[in-house]
Amino acid sequence: MIKIAPSILSADFIRLGEEIKNVEDGGADYIHFDVMDGIFVPNISVGIPVLKSVRRFTKMPLDVHLMIVRPVRYVSLFADAGADIVNIHIEADHMKETMRALTLIRDLGKKPAITIKPKTPGESVLPYLSLVDLVLIMTVEPGFGGQAFMKEMLPKISLVREAIDKANPAIELQVDGGINPGTAKLCVNAGANVLVAGSDIFKSKDRKERIRQIRGC
Ligand code: DX5
Ligand code: ZN
Repeated sequence: MIKIAPSILSADFIRLGEEIKNVEDGGADYIHFDVMDGIFVPNISVGIPVLKSVRRFTKMPLDVHLMIVRPVRYVSLFADAGADIVNIHIEADHMKETMRALTLIRDLGKKPAITIKPKTPGESVLPYLSLVDLVLIMTVEPGFGGQAFMKEMLPKISLVREAIDKANPAIELQVDGGINPGTAKLCVNAGANVLVAGSDIFKSKDRKERIRQIRGC
């Protein structure tokens, strides 16, 4: 089953509750929550206090994408604030610390996830597959919504899909960046099953219809 995770980075923050309710009613599966620290990526977004408010507002699974350096410092705070999936970048720390962070997320009863940026090879996720419930392949350079999809990521999606099918087919394969109904189809054909979409959904008047189109059914 294809899951849709609207990224609230492109929502109207003045009306964040309404925006979340709207995509929830539109059939979204997760709320994707982008956290940026201005160091790992050249932008700053939202953090723990906003996540706590969102947690009080909705029962939807909260998929927290941490674009921050040394995420091991913060994973328990995001878990306590209400994240269901805590997603960290492979590039954000040394392997030992990344593994420690993923184990900690699991011990806290949350779903650990690992992300790779466009320049990071697909093979680099292999050592982490026994520790995660989800792998995210970035299809733009992280930091900003509204960028163009990088088609050259498609072979990487297929490679990671193959590895997941061998290691543990229950692991979800997510893509994030430049997703619209057209690029969604390419990603699903390559093996992705969770599609993050920010600007494409929140720009649309009829979010329910747009979510349906991205899901491709
Ligand atoms: C980018 C974020 C994305 C972003 C996607 O760094 O991780 O989740 O919101 O935005 P769109 O769908 O507009 O490319
Ligand atoms: Zn994201």
